[in-house]
Amino acid sequence: MNILLTGGAGFIATHTCVELIQAGHDVVVVDNYVNSHPVALKRVEEIVGKSIKAYEADVCDKDAMNRIFDENKFDAVIHFAGLKAVGESVSIPLRYYRNNLDSTLTLCETMAAHDCKRLVFSSSATVYGVPDEVPLREDMFCKGCTNPYGWTKYMIEKILEGVVNADPEWSVVLLRYFNPIGAHESGRIGEDPSGIPNNLMPYITKVAAGQLKQLSVFGNDYNTPDGTGVRDYIHVVDLAKGHVAACDYAAKTNGCEIINLGTGVGYSVLDIVNAFTSVNDVPVPYVIAPRRPGDIDACYADPAKAEKLLGWKAEKSLEDMCRDSWRWQSANPKGYAD
Ligand code: UFG
Repeated sequence: MNILLTGGAGFIATHTCVELIQAGHDVVVVDNYVNSHPVALKRVEEIVGKSIKAYEADVCDKDAMNRIFDENKFDAVIHFAGLKAVGESVSIPLRYYRNNLDSTLTLCETMAAHDCKRLVFSSSATVYGVPDEVPLREDMFCKGCTNPYGWTKYMIEKILEGVVNADPEWSVVLLRYFNPIGAHESGRIGEDPSGIPNNLMPYITKVAAGQLKQLSVFGNDYNTPDGTGVRDYIHVVDLAKGHVAACDYAAKTNGCEIINLGTGVGYSVLDIVNAFTSVNDVPVPYVIAPRRPGDIDACYADPAKAEKLLGWKAEKSLEDMCRDSWRWQSANPKGYAD
């Protein structure tokens, strides 16, 4: 298939580019590089040994999107583009709603006008909000999100469900990601957050590298085995393979499916710190700090639906995730700016 990746230079998208190309697909990227780096795509080209057609454009720009669809015939789109920082979304909600919703509406209108009706969307486990129980199943009622970023994902899911209801020719897969970490095993692509990282693994790697003094473990009084927050960490390469499976699924079905991409296993913050330290033989100094507002005790997937519908399940271990994250950080201390 020829597949358009919006936000294609980002962390999950670049790993997905590699897996799609290695599975025999063609990819085209559109990205405005507000939160990503063109060098990332050069690295993907180096890994796969092929050049990638990339457009620098904003998905909200209807004229640009029309031009891209006029110049290419796409079999499917994976919609990664979007603002994604939880804390920032609380400070500048309008920008998050405008950007994430507007881009999706423009994309869907352009797709419909060009008779391209297969879409895989980057949703998030954040749409489950504060869950009553874990593991999280796709059919559980979502009682509400805890931040505007999460609401944009929730609203986009609803918009896409509406699109499919109105026109049954569409095939949409809503992928709810859990916590992607790790990096490609080549060490050439990985996560490159701008500024001080918000998420656990990039923070750990920067502490291990000596760029940040210590990790603050946000709370040790959660209702979890060691008191620290539990999450479903998934290797980004496993996640990327889930997208390949989702595209194959979308190609042979119609309708709208919500699918969790997680491992089904929860690890605590201290589990991650301890695994990272022992796999890489590098210390990660930490202090116990107050809880971070909006965090929940535990969040992990029931991944059964992904295996049943997509024939996909995560294969890499926590050790793989810790080793690959550290390889990427060590080889690229300044990320793509190196
Ligand atoms: N944590 C720390 N110290 C840090 C950073 C994180 O202790 O410096 C803890 C958090 O309290 C939490 C765990 O590490 O218990 C994971 O935190 P992350 O920020 O890495 O991830 P979250 O689970 O909070 O959020 C992530 C993504 C969201 C997405 C959500 C889906 O950042 O975009 O998963 O569940 F919505």
